[in-house]
Amino acid sequence: MEELNNKKIEEEINFKNVLQTPIRWFGVIYPYFIFLIVTGGLYYVSNLNSINENKIKPLIIDSTRLKSELPVRMAVRIEGVNVKEIAEPTAELITKGRELYLASCASCHGNEGRGDGVAGSGLVPPPRNFLNKDGWTNGMTLADIFKTLEEGISGTGMAAYEYMPVADRFAIIHFIHSLMGDYPENTVEELEQLNMKYKLAEGRILPNQIPVEKAVKIITEENLPNLNKAIAHGKVISINQNKIESITKAITNEDVAAYYLSKSDLWRRSNNDFKEYVSIGLPANGFKAGFYLLSEDEITQLRTFLADVIK
Ligand code: HEC
Repeated sequence: MEELNNKKIEEEINFKNVLQTPIRWFGVIYPYFIFLIVTGGLYYVSNLNSINENKIKPLIIDSTRLKSELPVRMAVRIEGVNVKEIAEPTAELITKGRELYLASCASCHGNEGRGDGVAGSGLVPPPRNFLNKDGWTNGMTLADIFKTLEEGISGTGMAAYEYMPVADRFAIIHFIHSLMGDYPENTVEELEQLNMKYKLAEGRILPNQIPVEKAVKIITEENLPNLNKAIAHGKVISINQNKIESITKAITNEDVAAYYLSKSDLWRRSNNDFKEYVSIGLPANGFKAGFYLLSEDEITQLRTFLADVIK
């Protein structure tokens, strides 16, 4: 009997026989077909990404880089002014402007306004030489320079001076004009436009300001103990995943879930409170839709476990 079997197997794999019976070829070639189809399929699937992928990368502008970091400033009240009065370059205003200029601007623009101040030596573009009439970005008139002082020149060392009282800024501009000797003057209409654009007659309050980086640091530091706690709780939760099945079913991110639950005690009271509190924050709170599929017993088990862990 065994002999017969052996013979049969021999016959089965007898290559000559295979060649003589074309239908059997298929049996031999079949694995190669499978191989080709599978590798072809894998190749196709692995290339799906590049088919779907946007070849042109989306342009994300990092808005935090547009303006150089904000300096710390206390809130100030910018008093309203009578533009017509201070637009006239009186000797008094020029003297005041000189003092202010030497204190705030000369470090870059130089004492005589030639753009040769020490602090400006490495800047690209260099600080403006006020005696050179070519290539101004905003322009030389009172209104133009006011715009420069109000908004700064983005991407250069020229910061905004919007916190400086309007009358002081006018005084500085008059002093700069006195250095220049001749300069283009604004028409009455242009001055009126300036007045309207920056609401100079009304005045306004500029809020407290702190650097973005500092604000982020404060927020993080205030939360740091809570975050560390949540991470520790998250660890305990994930360690217990094997013991308590509902964890895997309902939670995607243990740390986030622990942090979310640590922010309130509402969910501890009953299953319904638990369900309500979790559904409000889903899915950003580390839970997932599987939470809704838990049986009442599982909810009870999960809630009591979490209430134990998160203290
Ligand atoms: C940290 C150095 C620095 C300080 C301080 C500084 N500036 Fe400038 N300022 C620059 C640089 C750099 C430019 C060149 C910007 C450009 O070419 O677009 C400039 C350009 C200017 C311009 C020309 C704008 C234009 O239209 O081209 C004016 C006006 C000006 N500053 C006024 C002032 C006044 C007034 C002060 C003081 C309140 C001051 N700056 C303080 C660096 C400085």
